[in-house]
Amino acid sequence: LERPVVLTGIKPTGSIHLGNYLGAIKPALGFLDKGSVFEGHQAYYFIADYHALTSVVDPKQLKQWTLEVAATWMALGLNEEQTTFYRQSDIPELFELTWILNCVTNKGLMNRAHAYKACVDQNVTGGADPDEGINMGLYTYPILMSSDILAFHAHWVPVGSDQLQHVEIARDLAQTLNHRYKKELLRLPKAFIQEHMKVIPGLDGRKMSKSYSNTIPLFAPPSQLKKLIARIKTDSSLPGEPKKTQDSLIFTLYKEFATVEQTAMMEQKYAEGISWGEAKEALFSLLDHFLQGPRTKYEYLLQHPDEIEQALHKGAVKARARAGAILQVVKKTVLGS
Ligand code: TRP
Repeated sequence: LERPVVLTGIKPTGSIHLGNYLGAIKPALGFLDKGSVFEGHQAYYFIADYHALTSVVDPKQLKQWTLEVAATWMALGLNEEQTTFYRQSDIPELFELTWILNCVTNKGLMNRAHAYKACVDQNVTGGADPDEGINMGLYTYPILMSSDILAFHAHWVPVGSDQLQHVEIARDLAQTLNHRYKKELLRLPKAFIQEHMKVIPGLDGRKMSKSYSNTIPLFAPPSQLKKLIARIKTDSSLPGEPKKTQDSLIFTLYKEFATVEQTAMMEQKYAEGISWGEAKEALFSLLDHFLQGPRTKYEYLLQHPDEIEQALHKGAVKARARAGAILQVVKKTVLGS
């Protein structure tokens, strides 16, 4: 019996920071583990570089971010046996399916897509033409994303809640196509909204995000990591004064990387009035210890991009075989051949 498929895409639109890691990468890397939600499944994880093209116009930048994302996932330990890891633009089958899906998509459905609507609203508020600066890639983004999912007969699509509507559109399009041709051509996927897709606070306490410039890059060199941790906002309580763990960004981050025992010990130290300086030092050594191995591998891979390309190529061969077989049936049906 075939293992059910869990599939997700990662848009290469920036360098990876701790928030990306804790919110999306870490959970995804653990999905197939024993006792985890998707034990016994197979994973299709890919870099959605053509999706990034709706906003990234510098080819060098796009290439760099693509390599960085790939190196990050590889350095952190993908489950090689059960995971197919590839780059969207290496799978031409996706674009044939995209066109077929275009032809079952109501234009009105795209008008209601959140990301497009948000851009229109912004234009209208600013007194500009509603479609100012909006390219067709942004407008039809949900159709390409549907193709990403449907071309693999994916069962589960883990995403943050902002992507839920896109997965629902994919279901909708699969249903429409199946209904039109009276055949189970495409599988209806389900979104898996990551509950522990928690918001990771950045240096200033707001959500860690590139747009707030409050991020800690995952693979910053140790000296920079130390400096950034030193910048984390704390309250004005003095050394020796008991400190609350709930409102402490340092504690929140510490807990993400610590064992249960380490966390309990740190709670104790907070109650005993650890100084913020010591707390930051403890966070730094914990993080630095955890990152040492992956950082070395990450740096090695970025210095040997051919090895990244090789891994992506291997993934693409596997991915194309699956998508190709599924596309063939769809093509035969819709073209009547
Ligand atoms: N749109 C997703 C994002 O911005 C990335 C993505 C592209 C994706 N294709 C996908 C996610 C298919 C899940 C499945 O995060």
